[in-house]
Amino acid sequence: MPAIVRIVDLVKNYYMGGAVTVHVLKDLNLSFDEGDFIALMGPSGSGKSTLLNVLGCLDRPTRGRYFLGEVDVSEMSDDQLSEVRSTYLGFIFQSYNLLPQYTVVENIELPLLYQGIKLDERTKERCIELAGMVGLGDRLDHRPLQLSGGQQQRVAIARSLVNDPHLILGDEPTGNLDSRTSVEIMQMLRGLNRAGKTIIMVTHENDIAAWARRVVRLRDGRVESDTRNDTRVMAEMN
Ligand SMILES: Nc1ncnc2c1ncn2[C@@H]1O[C@H](COP(=O)(O)OP(=O)(O)O)[C@@H](O)[C@H]1O
Ligand SMILES: [Mg+2]
Repeated sequence: MPAIVRIVDLVKNYYMGGAVTVHVLKDLNLSFDEGDFIALMGPSGSGKSTLLNVLGCLDRPTRGRYFLGEVDVSEMSDDQLSEVRSTYLGFIFQSYNLLPQYTVVENIELPLLYQGIKLDERTKERCIELAGMVGLGDRLDHRPLQLSGGQQQRVAIARSLVNDPHLILGDEPTGNLDSRTSVEIMQMLRGLNRAGKTIIMVTHENDIAAWARRVVRLRDGRVESDTRNDTRVMAEMN
């Protein structure tokens, strides 16, 4: 499988006031294969979200290279990065990040709107289909506050798929959910992965990381371990 993501000697520093520099990612080298399902783990403050933000083109590396497919995105302009985000990437956040005044279907449509695509019957049909796929076919006109946490995260998953992304990035996607609902969400992510989507997900929970195929642990901005989950064990789960 070709690498969908490759980072080379990646450094990320935050510059605070005065001469204070926070060194967060320290010469990271990682390569993720197309079609893989990766859990990024590590203690709080180890740099998981920082790495995910760089991978999601929401933030830039201080030094080093980031190849998304064949393309070096590390030196792209803001406009180019936002183009990459809206055409190649799907995002799922811990806090769902839905707009409260919009319905389920309208929330799923949002990335298309940001992409400058004109909304019409055809795009609406696609969003309704995605809502159905995540089990919300009977909640199309509900607003986020009329949904449970698990349902809101399912809307976010449908939204992350609307641009047919190559890569889905999740930052603690089950962080606000109880364990039963977390299992539902992980089953959904596993299904997407089996259908061919590459997924990179941050989690600090072992139970959640067990759903991934590969587990990369960060510690203090460096890779501490990089292992593959036993697929036989995984097959016995669900
Ligand atoms: N915008 C920022 N400015 C300065 N320091 C930051 C910023 N974002 C994160 N950090 C620091 O970088 C380190 C890693 O943070 P983060 O990537 O959020 O870790 P994790 O997601 O693993 O908990 C922490 O020490 C944090 O305080
Ligand atoms: Mg974090």
